[in-house]
Amino acid sequence: MSSDDLPDQGKIRPAPESFLDSDLIESISRHGVDHRRRGLLQSAFGAAVAAMSGAVVASDQDILTLPEWSRTLGKPVAANPYGQPSIYEQNIIRRQSPGLTQTDQASVAFTPLQNMFGMITPSGLHFERHHQGWVDIDPRRHRLMINGLVEKPIVFTMEELMRMPSVSRLHFLECGANTALEWGNSAVPTVQYTHGMLSGSEWTGVPLSLLLERAGYDKGAKYLLAEGADGSSMTRTINMENALDDAIVAYGQNGEMLRPEQGYPLRLVVPGVQGVSWVKWLRRLEVGDMPYATKDEASHYVDLMPDGQQRQYTAIQEAKSVITAPSGGQKLQNRGYYNITGLAWSGRGTVTKVEVSVDGGRNWREARLDGPVLPKMLTRFHADWVWQGETALLQSRVHDSTGYIQPQRADLVAVRGTRSIYHNNAIQTWRVKSDGEVDNVQLG
Ligand code: MTE
Repeated sequence: MSSDDLPDQGKIRPAPESFLDSDLIESISRHGVDHRRRGLLQSAFGAAVAAMSGAVVASDQDILTLPEWSRTLGKPVAANPYGQPSIYEQNIIRRQSPGLTQTDQASVAFTPLQNMFGMITPSGLHFERHHQGWVDIDPRRHRLMINGLVEKPIVFTMEELMRMPSVSRLHFLECGANTALEWGNSAVPTVQYTHGMLSGSEWTGVPLSLLLERAGYDKGAKYLLAEGADGSSMTRTINMENALDDAIVAYGQNGEMLRPEQGYPLRLVVPGVQGVSWVKWLRRLEVGDMPYATKDEASHYVDLMPDGQQRQYTAIQEAKSVITAPSGGQKLQNRGYYNITGLAWSGRGTVTKVEVSVDGGRNWREARLDGPVLPKMLTRFHADWVWQGETALLQSRVHDSTGYIQPQRADLVAVRGTRSIYHNNAIQTWRVKSDGEVDNVQLG
């Protein structure tokens, strides 16, 4: 492949669902939506299927001729000491939302959920949310201090922490502000922007309970203050209940050390709890007997209710699901079979059932769940659908192990109003128009 074949900067290829098209290098909008060829099922694929079923495809050079990569030497192993995605995947990137103010440091970049498979987010595509930019800390100089209501304040080095007994567990991380723009009528175009402050990873580290035991924490203490080492003074109150349950002081993500954007070398993992409490670049844990009411829990991450009161310390991410394909910005090219797929999760436990509707919630049918279905982790679901060219309203709704059922937007708004920024777990609607275009609509 010569450098001439590489996509130009700013002229990246369409979403990967189009990779069977021979014309790979096409310009698309900077938000990952190809306005000319957004096919989920391209004609080349149709031709291949026809060939498999016995039809003669005399003109398909991709089948009739031996491609150059079958006639030449491949690249040496040393060419890629740390593996990178194919050059044909350069469009699969984190993106900043068109609906939010974009600043360099206090910012957010969203995971391209529309391009993901399964339940694990590749570390390089994990969404990132920083209040003061990200830092790359020398692990030899990083320390974790545990103080406050403890018998013996302790300071750990990374080496000491990594010698302790460890656990590896899969959990989702969702920002409390995920889906914030859907409170209003802004209806951003793609699932990357509506739900992309969501990722799923395997996290490795030391159980927080073990570290607290080691410091001899006061058994009457009810709270912890977690503090990050970045310039944002990120400090959050953690309930002792969550801390002692399944929280991890993590250094590993998907089998390797955390990425700097995710808090290298140490972050707090508080399964099921909103992302802001997963303090990155973790340097201090203080055991205390009352909530700390820090700036990030007194003025931010509170929900403004219709009566003007603020809901505070709403830590748990309630059950939620979203269809990731077909989803906003994509286009169905042909009538026929589609695999409706998406993700479901619950901060209170396990997904027990996902239902899918193609008529805006009038009729529901049960989706297939990919296993394993794990507590406080993303679950991938699928539903078969034959599209006949009609206008369709695609929705998914999740049930969790507490019996909770994800609400329709109108039901959530009836209780919460529209002035919250945070904790929007309403059912998402994607409209498939008769020309196959899919867009984001709000019902009710
Ligand atoms: N920790 C520190 N120290 N500084 C931060 O800016 N952002 C928080 C949280 N932990 C933040 C932090 C927020 S708001 C979220 S949603 C998650 O980290 C995002 O984690 P991620 O960037 O790994 O996706």
